[in-house]
Parts: sequence; C-alpha cells; structure tokens
Amino acid sequence: MKLEKIYSPIKEELGRIEDELRSQLLSSKDKFILEVNRYLLGSAGKRLRPSLVLLSAKTNNHWDEKVIPVSVALELIHTASLVHDDVLDEADLRRKRTTMNTRWGNEPAVLTGDYLYFKAFSILSQLGVQKISSIVSFAAEMMCEGEIIQTCKTYKLNLSEEDYLEIIRKKTASLMAASCEVGAVLSESHPSVQKALANYGLNFGMAFQIIDDCLDLVSPPDKMGKSTYKDFAQGKMTLPLIYLVRRLTKEDGKRINDLFHKDREEIITLLREYEVVGQSWQRAKEYLDRAKEKLKVLENSQAKEALSLLSDYLLESLAARVEKYQIASVPNSSQSGLSYRGNA
Ligand code: FPP
Ligand code: MG
Repeated sequence: MKLEKIYSPIKEELGRIEDELRSQLLSSKDKFILEVNRYLLGSAGKRLRPSLVLLSAKTNNHWDEKVIPVSVALELIHTASLVHDDVLDEADLRRKRTTMNTRWGNEPAVLTGDYLYFKAFSILSQLGVQKISSIVSFAAEMMCEGEIIQTCKTYKLNLSEEDYLEIIRKKTASLMAASCEVGAVLSESHPSVQKALANYGLNFGMAFQIIDDCLDLVSPPDKMGKSTYKDFAQGKMTLPLIYLVRRLTKEDGKRINDLFHKDREEIITLLREYEVVGQSWQRAKEYLDRAKEKLKVLENSQAKEALSLLSDYLLESLAARVEKYQIASVPNSSQSGLSYRGNA
C-alpha cells in the first residue's frame, strides 16, 4: 500500500498546504533565515500531521477554510520539534539530509526551532479560534513535558513500561491527537466524534512512536534517512529494551549490567534471542487496533477509510523492515501479528 494512495482524498488540500508552508517560510527578508527555511522546505517529511487534520475534518460534511492554516501551524510545530530534537540527540542526519545543528551549529538550530514555533502560534492567534489555540498549546506543552521527562530518565535500566508509555504519549501522541481533534472541531463534528478522533490520534501516535523506536534499533542508518541507534547510544530506554531488560533480569541478572556498553551487533543479537521487537510490534498493533476501534462511531466516508488504511500502513512499515533485517519473521502482518523463527 502506498501513502500517496491513502492520501488521495486530500490530495488537492495537501497541495494548498504545501503552498502555504512555502509562503510562510519564505516571508522573511533576512538572507540567513531564508536560506535556512529553504533548506527545511527541501526536506519535506510525510506531512502526517496535516494529513490527520485534513482527514479528520473530511470525515464530516462541513468544510472550514481554517483547516489549511491550522494544518500549516501543526506542521511547523512538528518541524520545530524535530529541529530541537536533533540538537538534543546530537543527530547529524534527518530526512536523508544533514541536520541543521550539524550544518549551521546548535545556536542557529535552537533559534530556528523557536522561530518556527512562534510562527505557528502567530498563525493560530490570527485565526482567533480560542478552542483550536488551546488544543494545540496544550499539545505543545505536553511535548515539552515528554522530552523533559525523557531527558531525566536516561540510562535508567529499570525504566518501567508505564513510564515509557507516558513519555511517548506526551512527546509524540499528544500532537497527533491534537491534529485529529482540531480537524474534527473545525468541521463541526459532534462532540462524541471529536473525542473519538482525538483518541484515534492518540492511539495512532503511541503506535507510531513504538514503531519508530523499534526501527531506530534495527535499521541501518542509510535506510532510515536519519541518524539511527541514537536512542540507545544516549541511554534512552525504549520498549524493546525495556522488554529485554525484563527478560534478562529474570534469567540472568548479571547480563544487564553492561548493557549500555554493548555494541550494536551484540544488542541486535539479544533482541533476536529474546524476541522483544516482535513483542513491541504486538504492543503497537494493539494501539492501532484501538485506534481503528475509535473510528467505529463515525459515519462511513472516504476519509474514515483512509484513516483506517493509515494505521495498516504504519504497522506494515515495521513488519517489512524487521523481516528484511531478519529480526523477526512476519507471516501475515496485517492479520496475525509477528511470529518468530527464533534466531533468524
Ligand atoms: C522525536 O523523537 C521528537 C519528538 C517526538 C518531540 C520533540 C519535542 C521537543 C524537542 C520538545 C519541544 C517541543 C515543543 C512543542 C516546544 P525521537 O528522537 O524519538 O525520534 P527521531 O528518531 O525522529 O529523532
Ligand atoms: Mg531524535
């Protein structure tokens, strides 16, 4: 399944969002700001958050033009958070290109991130819809909380699954929930539908980050287009590692002591041996099932179908890679979940 096909009900609007992003990012008269923003425009991502806004809005038969600038604001917040995240992670590659921090240094990167945030909030404040501003501000506040908690908990081998889930809910899922909710609010959906879509986004976001964390461990960097294995190298405990520590503690407490000193190959061997990527994939699948469950209260529409397909797309992206890198075997990923061949 191709993302392009899933996005087909919102193709025209995505084009308009692209135009608006360009005009926002190229509005400054300053040469350096223009150079940096042109660079950012040249490395577009999947535009997932604008797509969640658009699809959520289109599940109801009421179009509000404000959907376009609100989507732009959400994409700017997301871009800003990645620019800051790359500084924190000391990452040198993002979307197949050199990160801002590596190319221009930390100071311009931090300031550009700030600039993008405030651009986003000035777009929102000009629209004057208090409910939308408060949904998005709350999500941004949660993102910061998530990152702060994550930073305080590095190298904690005993990080619990609950703590990890709280971190990813705040740093990732909150913005996806907000994207869906603002789409539903602007299209004047029934409050029960607004809630259902916000919960769809939240569960989708949880699965998204679990999958992203698995891919960070299992993929070679040249295949991801971004720096990988950074989480582990910087002491971030992600779900497969939490499951690994749990198993090792049970079976042989001593083996976890030097976990953070092991190299990538040794960790991959342990991930295979203990089948913990499959276990994490299963957890992501549960979140995606829950996300799809939330869609049941919505009336049928092309947009609703696309949201459901987006969940399948996400799950398949991990299944394909873990199979390719022989971390696990996936007989029929969309229905049955990962199963293991053991040490593939
Ligand atoms: C990527 O995580 C980063 C995030 C999901 C959120 C980053 C948020 C901040 C830096 C806080 C600032 C935010 C605001 C709104 C002021 P990752 O490192 O797990 O993913 P990656 O593999 O793509 O780097
Ligand atoms: Mg990162």
